[in-house]
Amino acid sequence: MRVLQLFLLTSLGLVTNVSTLNSCSNCGEFIVPYPLSTNENCGDKRYKVYCNDEKLEFLSATGTYYKILSIDPSANKLVIMPPPILKNTCYSSDLLMGGLFLDQSLPFNISTQNTVLLFNCTNNILQSPLNCTSNSICRQYEKKVEEGFGCMNTLCCHYLKDSAMNSHKIRVRIGSCTAYTCLVGFTPDDPLQTWNYGIELQWLSPNN
Ligand SMILES: *[C@@H]1O[C@H](CO)[C@@H](O)[C@H](O)[C@H]1NC(C)=O
Ligand SMILES: *[C@@H]1O[C@H](CO)[C@@H](O)[C@H](O)[C@H]1NC(C)=O
Ligand SMILES: *[C@@H]1O[C@H](CO)[C@@H](O)[C@H](O)[C@H]1NC(C)=O
Repeated sequence: MRVLQLFLLTSLGLVTNVSTLNSCSNCGEFIVPYPLSTNENCGDKRYKVYCNDEKLEFLSATGTYYKILSIDPSANKLVIMPPPILKNTCYSSDLLMGGLFLDQSLPFNISTQNTVLLFNCTNNILQSPLNCTSNSICRQYEKKVEEGFGCMNTLCCHYLKDSAMNSHKIRVRIGSCTAYTCLVGFTPDDPLQTWNYGIELQWLSPNN
């Protein structure tokens, strides 16, 4: 009897554990894996994402929503869509918010797999470790990708956003650079047709 009681208690404990690990239901066609959470009743609420009109979105510290393009739960990673560059300008849509800022109190950061392309920069950017040469891949983008046409012939640069740089923001502003885009997993010499546009974010595993 005692053994049975223990057994029941143990299995109840297990049931509780499993239910706290419940993942959220799909958002449109999108599977929302644990620990991502679209509402209070599922996932882990520190890992909040938003299901707006059946589109899964990530909210930045400045209140901008970025569309989630893909999620790799086994690697604790997700990729958000870089903000569009507004037509006939060289302004990223989040320019007035200063670019992308992640809330540092949340368990997300920008991974080290991102190559950032910056456009319409001023000369003072040249002091930082960026590649602003005429061979920079930003030149291909502004010449061959329609969204970059508004940035043509501006000073542009690219850099690999590795751990040496701040992992919670991609900054743009008037008087520095006013537009950006980003590639995930870019390696030098990858042809433009194979570029993978996105900003890869990584999350701290909930068990840590
Ligand atoms: C480039 O940035 C400057 C401010 O730094 C702005 O006045 C100008 O309009 C921008 N150029 C384009 C093409 O958007
Ligand atoms: C700048 O980037 C281009 C394209 O990846 C590369 O060929 C070139 O060597 C880089 N230049 C510098 C100074 O890093
Ligand atoms: C981002 O977060 C992950 C998981 O916590 C950590 O392993 C990684 O070192 C962080 N990356 C940077 C660039 O801070």
